[in-house]
Amino acid sequence: MSTALIVTSSANGEASVSNRIASAFTDRLRAIDPAIHIVERDVGAHPLPHLAPENVAGVRGEARTDAEIAARDLSDALIAELDAADLLVIASPMYNFGISSTLKSWFDHVLRPRVTFRYSENGPEGLMTGKKAVVIESRGGFYSEGPAAAMDGQEAHLRNMLGFMGIADVTFVRAEKLGFGPDAVEAAVAAASEALDSFAAAELKQAA
Ligand SMILES: Cc1cc2nc3c(=O)[nH]c(=O)nc-3n(C[C@H](O)[C@H](O)[C@H](O)COP(=O)(O)O)c2cc1C
Repeated sequence: MSTALIVTSSANGEASVSNRIASAFTDRLRAIDPAIHIVERDVGAHPLPHLAPENVAGVRGEARTDAEIAARDLSDALIAELDAADLLVIASPMYNFGISSTLKSWFDHVLRPRVTFRYSENGPEGLMTGKKAVVIESRGGFYSEGPAAAMDGQEAHLRNMLGFMGIADVTFVRAEKLGFGPDAVEAAVAAASEALDSFAAAELKQAA
């Protein structure tokens, strides 16, 4: 393991649970492998522009205008960060049953035809292969089982978008019931951190 890209996407800044878990995981990666190169991209604190009529061609067509060229250059930079990473870590808060709009905008910039995926005779083919991903999902409620499971529009969407780029080896770690009070928050953070510690120990040992 040599390079990890950490994408955080909470609107809650210092109070964010997903940021807190991602930060502890980043510290753990550094402790296990002091040589690891960590790149942090916080699209929650520093949102990317949405794709709109004036810039969308920069990502999904031919860049001609200044706005389109700016969108293409940003997309190129974000894809370069992803391409250089062996491990992608995404911290994803659940907002309105899905991912945050800031994280969606990151995907809108990195899912790029002929760059991160292409259509071949055999159908769509992801081009960002050979990576592992960890997704930290923070939720106020509980979606792992029971009646609310059908309302989870976060995990399948993330799996689909990562898979479309060829990132199929994804470990999901859920921190749930965060709206159930401080004890529930601490329990969820502890359980998620334990799962991530195990992942870090196993992965970095394997890579050594
Ligand atoms: C705008 C907004 C929408 C939310 N929608 C949901 C939701 O649909 N389901 C849920 O379980 N929690 C929801 N929550 C609660 C968050 O998932 C929870 O606070 C979680 O901790 C957010 O992660 P963060 O602390 O890293 O921002 C919402 C929170 C916000 C701010």
